[in-house]
Amino acid sequence: MRLTAAQVDQLAMEFESKSAHEVLKWALDTFGPRIGLASSFGAEDVAVIDMMAKIDKNSNVFTLDTGRLNQETYDVMDDVRTRYGIKINVFFPDQKEVEEMVKSLGMNLMYASVENRKLCCEIRKVHPLNRALANLDGWITGLRRDQAATRADTKKIEIDNSHGGIIKLNPIADWTSDQVWDYIRKNNVPYNKLHDMGYPSIGCEPCTRPIKIGEDPRAGRWWWESAANKECGLHFDPTKKK
Ligand code: ADX
Ligand code: SF4
Repeated sequence: MRLTAAQVDQLAMEFESKSAHEVLKWALDTFGPRIGLASSFGAEDVAVIDMMAKIDKNSNVFTLDTGRLNQETYDVMDDVRTRYGIKINVFFPDQKEVEEMVKSLGMNLMYASVENRKLCCEIRKVHPLNRALANLDGWITGLRRDQAATRADTKKIEIDNSHGGIIKLNPIADWTSDQVWDYIRKNNVPYNKLHDMGYPSIGCEPCTRPIKIGEDPRAGRWWWESAANKECGLHFDPTKKK
C-alpha cells in the first residue's frame, strides 16, 4: 500500500496536533505488521516501543545489529523482550561485505577517514536497513526535531524517497528529551543503562562516548569528526540532500 504525496502532506498537517499515541494508533490500524519500528533501543525508541506494545503486542519491531553494539544495548533488548513479550526482528550485516571490508581496511577503519566511517555505516547499518524495509509499507523512527540541525524539519509523517516511497513515521518528532524521560519514568520503561553513564545518544561501541556537562547531546557520536558529518546514512533523503 502506498499513499500519495498529497495524502501524506494532508496527514502531516493533521498529525501536528495529534499525540504520539494517536499517530501510532493510526499507523498500526492502517498498516498492521507492514509498518515496523526501527529501534536502536535508545531512550526515544524504548518509549515508542512501550506505546506500540500497549496498542498491539504483535507490533513489528526490528533492530539493526551492526556487530559493534555495547553489551548494555543487548541487555536492554532482552529486558524489552521479556517485559512486553514482543518478538524483535534482528537484521545483521551481510557476512561477505563485512569480511571484505575488514580484510582490506581493518577492524578500526572508521577512525582513518570519514570515507571509511561512512563505508562501515553503509555496510553495517544502511544495507541491513534496506533489507528490513524491502517488504514493508512503512517504518517508524524515534527521530526528534531538536536532536540536530539536520532533523529540525522532520515531519511526523513523510514519504521516504530512499526506500521506494514507503511511509516514514516519526511520532515523537515534536518531543523534547525531557518529555522522553518523563514518559520513561512514568511508565517504568526499561532503558539502556549507558544513559546513566553520560551517554545521551547511543550508537556503536567504537563510535560513541559519554559527553561532558554542557556539550551537545550528539557530541559523543563519531566525536573525532566535525559536526556536519554526524549522520550515518540511515536517515539520508536524496531529495532533501540531508
Ligand atoms: S543515527 O542515524 O545517528 O545512528 P540515532 O541514533 O539518532 O540515529 O537514532 C535515530 C533513529 O534511527 C532511532 O530512533 C531509530 O529509529 C533509528 N536507528 C538508529 N540506529 C538504529 C539501529 N541500530 N537499529 C534500528 N534503528 C536504528
Ligand atoms: Fe561502523 Fe561506527 Fe558506523 Fe557502527 S557507527 S557502523 S561501528 S562506523
